[in-house]
Amino acid sequence: MTIIEKTRDRIPLSKEEMWQWIGAIVDGSIPDYQVAAWLMAAYLNGLTEQEIFDLTEAMAFVGSPPPRHVGLVDKHSTGGVGDKTSLILAPLVASFGIPVVKMSGRGLGHTGGTLDKLESLPGFRVQLTPEQLERQVKDVGVAVIAQSRDLAPADARLYALRDVTATVDSIPLIAASIMSKKLAAKSPNIVLDVKVGSGAFMKTRERAIELARLMVQIGQAHHVRVKAILTDMNQPLGFAVGNAIEVNEAMATLRGNGPQDLTDEVKVLASHMVSLGANISVQAALENVTRALEDGRAWQKFTEWVVAQGADPKVLEHDLLLAPVHLQWVLEQQVAVQAINTREIGLAALTLGAGRHVKDDPVDHAVGVRCFLKVGKVYGPGTVAADVYARSEPMGQEALRMIKKSIVQGQSIRQTEAILEIIE
Ligand code: URA
Repeated sequence: MTIIEKTRDRIPLSKEEMWQWIGAIVDGSIPDYQVAAWLMAAYLNGLTEQEIFDLTEAMAFVGSPPPRHVGLVDKHSTGGVGDKTSLILAPLVASFGIPVVKMSGRGLGHTGGTLDKLESLPGFRVQLTPEQLERQVKDVGVAVIAQSRDLAPADARLYALRDVTATVDSIPLIAASIMSKKLAAKSPNIVLDVKVGSGAFMKTRERAIELARLMVQIGQAHHVRVKAILTDMNQPLGFAVGNAIEVNEAMATLRGNGPQDLTDEVKVLASHMVSLGANISVQAALENVTRALEDGRAWQKFTEWVVAQGADPKVLEHDLLLAPVHLQWVLEQQVAVQAINTREIGLAALTLGAGRHVKDDPVDHAVGVRCFLKVGKVYGPGTVAADVYARSEPMGQEALRMIKKSIVQGQSIRQTEAILEIIE
């Protein structure tokens, strides 16, 4: 029986078969249509826990040379809308002398990517030579770079195929994708931000918990300390969604002036990262990170970091420039926000050109949106509910229409908690 037949018929693959299959995916001896058929079988039938462990291990280590530089603590988000936490966490954690080397990806679909956001800083380089990386980690203690092609190469092929075969939101496939990259990067401590809600791949708390538990178990099996923090994605994180517009919000947060929800979430994620990296209690770490955001240390580390990676220091003196057509949605009547279709707000930014429809689409760094409405709150007439920075008036109007459509009004309003659960 072939591997595709076995997974189609729910017959578990042995460890040897899984390694052989991933080997063939990496060396290109299996065509895309067969890999896609296997992905759909795995998506529909699931995989056993043992298969998921074997798949992750094979994806992590087939074709992945050991990394040359390893941070002490790594972080990964399952993907959301307005999720700019990595831009803040990397320098914030590094400001405690904890080395951070983070490999990040680009946005795809309705979710953004850290690399695209960083490239809105003129001059910023996401590719560093091994020598440049070594020097930067030694001198500055933080680097965020493009994921190297050698790191878990099976994931690059599988992820691209999943994106076009409707097989992304599968717990086994997401767990293997994320944990293979994390195991290949070899950091001894990992904080996972598992997003739950209308802007996330995991729409319910139950599914997010299942994914989080699985990823923690995979880490433990490899003697890696993993903490998974379940965070709410039923509304954009902060206000801004786009690239330069998110960098502006991240810079404000690093100077202590960020939106409350974003600041609170960053503090929680950072306190777990610092607690793992420095072996101190989460409470002590929380007090330290709060101080570093308030006294300028986090901002100072951010500027050192991005300038070391090529950004022009002059651009840090002001907000980054945004696209020229600025439109606003001002409320004409009272609005009680019961829910937000967060994915739709991600798609509004995508419509403006902030993201990609297909892998190699160019990204417009200057366009973006801000949605100021939060779930569970009531806003009066005259409130600025959203704004849009577009290249043209029709594009801006379309994005505003999508934002308006994403707001569900209702009587039974309830505020959401930002941090839902911590799994370790
Ligand atoms: N992020 C990843 O790296 N992989 C997935 O499958 C989903 C989110």
